[in-house]
Amino acid sequence: MRLPLGSQVKNAYWRLRSGRTARASHFAADFREEFPSQYTGRAAEIFFSNEAEPIHKWLHYLPIYDELFSPFVGRDIRFLEIGVFRGGSLRMWRQFFGAPAVLFGIDINPNCAAYDGRHGQVRIGSQSDAGFLKRVVAEMGGVDVVLDDGSHRAGDQRASFDTLFPLLSEGGLYVIEDMHTAYWPQWEGGLRRPGTAVEFLKQKVDEMHRHYAKRGLNTPNAMPEIASVQFFDSIAAVRKRKQLPRRHVIVPPIAPEQP
Ligand SMILES: C[S@@+](CC[C@H](N)C(=O)[O-])C[C@H]1O[C@@H](n2cnc3c(N)ncnc32)[C@H](O)[C@@H]1O
Repeated sequence: MRLPLGSQVKNAYWRLRSGRTARASHFAADFREEFPSQYTGRAAEIFFSNEAEPIHKWLHYLPIYDELFSPFVGRDIRFLEIGVFRGGSLRMWRQFFGAPAVLFGIDINPNCAAYDGRHGQVRIGSQSDAGFLKRVVAEMGGVDVVLDDGSHRAGDQRASFDTLFPLLSEGGLYVIEDMHTAYWPQWEGGLRRPGTAVEFLKQKVDEMHRHYAKRGLNTPNAMPEIASVQFFDSIAAVRKRKQLPRRHVIVPPIAPEQP
């Protein structure tokens, strides 16, 4: 793809500064010129105007972030991002959610400790370490939104979900991104391969409906605390909310048909 002149200049500058050979899709290009209608939201504004710590995102995520995260803007939510990289995404979330948000990032790479305190708090440890995750959430005072942008490996994605989803607050949101790795063998993926994030979340769809499949589960205590499982291209979002037993009624009441 031929980049606009402005992006070409930015990219040449980036190559000079970093000394790295880059792929065109990896940096600084402003694709809004190509797809103007797709990148008009809050996340896109923040992403494309970033000139500070690098952020690495697939562009089609930007409107999805708007859809998923806009209800939390300006609130004192507790947001945990798995995967800090160069600190840019925490900066982006600070701009997106605003000052009242409690932002924490975790990363296995000790170098990420350098970003602690800049736009949020950073803690070093593995997303598959349940004890570590619980300590971080305790420090946060609870968690309302999780974004898993960590290793993108099935085992890690499942481990984090299993630990963190039960800790989510009522109405909280658990988001996994880069789920296309579920189709890539080098990432423990493969079409319909058991255990990938896609297959794991399909099971959550079954869990959400389990009271239709098994008698006796349509009770307040047995209802799963899953309000929705939403799939986008490469992103999934699971909403946690206490569910009431299901009833269906006809209003106004009608008389039974005579045989
Ligand atoms: C895709 S990058 C994160 C990008 C960042 N969120 C952004 O948007 O710019 C993935 C990060 O996950 C971290 N990571 C890899 N395995 C991990 C693990 N097991 N636990 C926690 N972090 C991990 C890597 O060190 C890397 O910084």
